[in-house]
Amino acid sequence: MKVFTVAQGTTSLEGLKASERERPSPGAGQVLVRMRAASLNFRDLAIVAGKYFRGPVERDTIPLSDGAGEVAAVGTGVTEFAKGDRVVAAFTQGHPPLALGFPLDGTLTEYAVFPADGLLRIPAHMSFEEAATLPCAGVTVWNALMHGPKSLRPGETVLTLGTGGVSIFALQIGKITGARVIITSSSDAKLERARAMGADHCINYKTTPNWEEKVLELTDGQGADHVIDTGGVGTLPKSYLAVGPGGTVSVIGVMTRPDGDLSPYPLMAKFAMVRGIFVGAREHFDGLMKAIVVNKLHPVVDRTFPFDAAPEAYKYMKSAQHFGKIVITI
Ligand SMILES: NC(=O)c1ccc[n+]([C@@H]2O[C@H](COP(=O)([O-])OP(=O)(O)OC[C@H]3O[C@@H](n4cnc5c(N)ncnc54)[C@H](OP(=O)(O)O)[C@@H]3O)[C@@H](O)[C@H]2O)c1
Repeated sequence: MKVFTVAQGTTSLEGLKASERERPSPGAGQVLVRMRAASLNFRDLAIVAGKYFRGPVERDTIPLSDGAGEVAAVGTGVTEFAKGDRVVAAFTQGHPPLALGFPLDGTLTEYAVFPADGLLRIPAHMSFEEAATLPCAGVTVWNALMHGPKSLRPGETVLTLGTGGVSIFALQIGKITGARVIITSSSDAKLERARAMGADHCINYKTTPNWEEKVLELTDGQGADHVIDTGGVGTLPKSYLAVGPGGTVSVIGVMTRPDGDLSPYPLMAKFAMVRGIFVGAREHFDGLMKAIVVNKLHPVVDRTFPFDAAPEAYKYMKSAQHFGKIVITI
């Protein structure tokens, strides 16, 4: 079968190579999936650059954590799925849970085997491409907004940074939950797209570098109830100022370098919280799916690339031109 692999020790996109591997067969409790689509996340750029957590991959690894396809065969004991079922894989698999694409082999492959409890059914209204966007970015946002000490309520304010995969899910989930959504971007054109999707307020963080002040102004000095901080240490100081009383700053992103005063003291008098997020568990994905089905939500797929053009998809992601998710069809 055709796969892509990230070569052991690689520190650049040169290490992403088309390759051949033997098609796996499902063991007891396992499901063989003919993959149809995979989506990219920011972490996939870090993995191929050798900069993800423990450094370069330690063996040739099939990349990408997110993928969807159809069941090709099931192993003994599997009753939940049958040949032809449309499924999407969870970000982590097994017990203890480990992430696809690093350290486990991922989804940029024609066939993959998963434990049956690592798969979810794809809602009927969704394509493979759309379903493949959910496991990392979608579940991260659902976990951040719905599973903290204070889950999002209708009428509350969500602030989300940028217009990449995570942030556009925050916009969509915020809107189906009845929240007011404030979104930032470096691009007015992208902000227009966000506005057309229902964003209540749009702030260009390049032309309004003190965007936290604008957030306070737009919320009558109150601040946001939930901040989806996709930026990281460079944006957290402003997120601490933009969050409102009793609000939550979800620490999600790792894209920026330290900038400004990193002290969390602005949170003290507001009784505000900082919550670390690492994607989410199977139960979070199940909850997201329910909300998706009821609301007939369609994730935003910015662009799809054919399998053989996978390196082009990585380059496109690196260029940060996208809005929402980038998908590779398989
Ligand atoms: N902790 C977790 O569980 C978890 C899960 C998923 C993702 N993440 C992290 O979350 C971040 C976003 O991931 P993604 O997959 O959504 O990436 P992505 O699709 O590549 O989105 C990147 C976007 O972020 C925006 N951005 C870049 N620098 C920014 C800054 N200084 N301030 C505000 N926005 C900025 C840009 O939006 P504009 O073009 O609109 O300016 C850019 O297009 C990454 O750091 C990723 O590693 C973490």
